[in-house]
Amino acid sequence: MIFTVAIDGPAAAGKGTISRAVAERFGFAHLDTGILYRAVGRRVLDGDPAELAAATLRHRDIARDDLRTQAVAEAASQVAAMPEVRAALVAFQREFARRDGGAVLDGRDIGTVICPKAEVKIFVTASAEIRARRRYDELVASGQAADFDAVLGEVRARDARDMGRTDAPLKAAEDAVTLDTSALSIEEAVASATTIVEAGIAGR
Ligand code: DC
Repeated sequence: MIFTVAIDGPAAAGKGTISRAVAERFGFAHLDTGILYRAVGRRVLDGDPAELAAATLRHRDIARDDLRTQAVAEAASQVAAMPEVRAALVAFQREFARRDGGAVLDGRDIGTVICPKAEVKIFVTASAEIRARRRYDELVASGQAADFDAVLGEVRARDARDMGRTDAPLKAAEDAVTLDTSALSIEEAVASATTIVEAGIAGR
């Protein structure tokens, strides 16, 4: 069965958690597409030209355990604005989306550019303050020093870059269902997404 669930939205809206839970619930494969841009950003920080890094991305680049830092997120957002980088990553994502057995992809442009014909599209969002609060709490919980206003500033700057770029900007597809997680617990957000996917499967 070919069945694609496209989950887009800004950083820290809950996309990752929702996508993993939906993939597990329905037995679909899951791809966090942000990791591709993070891996390219990491290689750029290590000195490679962005275009070359994207064209020669290897499994070991995306398997690195140091891709979740703020510096890599920032580099990822910068390389993600480069059309050559995005173009080099399209084929892999499209193949993943149409693999047999169902797939969930989360990112910024899955429902708009990578897989406009996805059977289900969900745009997961939350206010910038709530997303910054979640990020701040994660940093504090992992023992890192954090300043809330700085985290909020970073969230806003990344939103502005991801939404403002010319190529594949972050935006909801016209036929996406918007899921605002600002006032929802993780369980409630996952339950809402599951209901949306069930409706999509039933309506095939
Ligand atoms: O979801 P994330 O924080 O891991 O994403 C890192 C950056 O990669 C983000 O700032 C924007 C970019 N990105 C993108 O442009 N398109 C995607 N499909 C996924 C991520």
